[in-house]
Amino acid sequence: MLNKIIDIVKQAGEIYKTANDDLGIEDKGSAVNLVTKYDKMIQDFLFSELEKVVPGCSFLGEEGDGNKKLTDGYCFIIDPIDGTTNFIKGFQHSAISVGLAKNKEMIIGVVLDPDLNNLFYAEKGKGAFLNGKLIHCSDCNLEQSLVLFGTCPYEHELAHKTFELTEKIFYKAIEVRRGGSAALDICYVASGKADLYYEMILRPWDWAGASVILSEAGGYAATFEKEELDADKITSLVCGNQKVLEKFYGILES
Ligand code: IPD
Ligand code: CA
Ligand code: CA
Repeated sequence: MLNKIIDIVKQAGEIYKTANDDLGIEDKGSAVNLVTKYDKMIQDFLFSELEKVVPGCSFLGEEGDGNKKLTDGYCFIIDPIDGTTNFIKGFQHSAISVGLAKNKEMIIGVVLDPDLNNLFYAEKGKGAFLNGKLIHCSDCNLEQSLVLFGTCPYEHELAHKTFELTEKIFYKAIEVRRGGSAALDICYVASGKADLYYEMILRPWDWAGASVILSEAGGYAATFEKEELDADKITSLVCGNQKVLEKFYGILES
């Protein structure tokens, strides 16, 4: 099943690469929350092709009015373009993210960065890979960490708290970065390209696929309240190795 899903995600990456100047940009009720015709095209493509791999499965996808609830049985959780603002601007840091849950447990994750041709994938119990090579989360301390964070761009009321927390963390780590794709942020932590990532609000499609890759790479993810992630809810998320997470929670509570 994993190989078939990878193949479909790669084909979706080819659709992403056909993007020209006419992106068909619309806003989703706020001037900063945008969608393009490519987000919709890629989601439609993934829905129709993945249905053939797992007949009768259900879907939880960001775009459109489709089902927004996780179901029992097989359920794909899809972000057709994670990092739509980067995509629109040509910043070249976005992802196509597909997670597969079975009876509400994440079992497969495939995240493609079509600009760099980086393919992250994992199946529960079988390790995590980047372009065919096994990946591992780092085991460094916060002092040796490159830290990624998200700004909750659609919830401006969380900006102050986010930047306050980030200032505290900035002084304790090597450096901080704001990439603009939560799925890639988590995959970067999974592959040791970065060591900690956090954001105060995420939707399940932002993290579902990447969460399997992270846990198979030996990393941990939880909410700011130290609860398990739940793809039925909108929650905060923090991920990294255990040492870095402990330091993060200490700073959060300080
Ligand atoms: C967003 C990106 C961004 C994160 C936001 C997400 P979208 O997803 O992952 O990095 O900060 O919270 O909503 O809207 O580009 O799919
Ligand atoms: Ca997203
Ligand atoms: Ca998206």
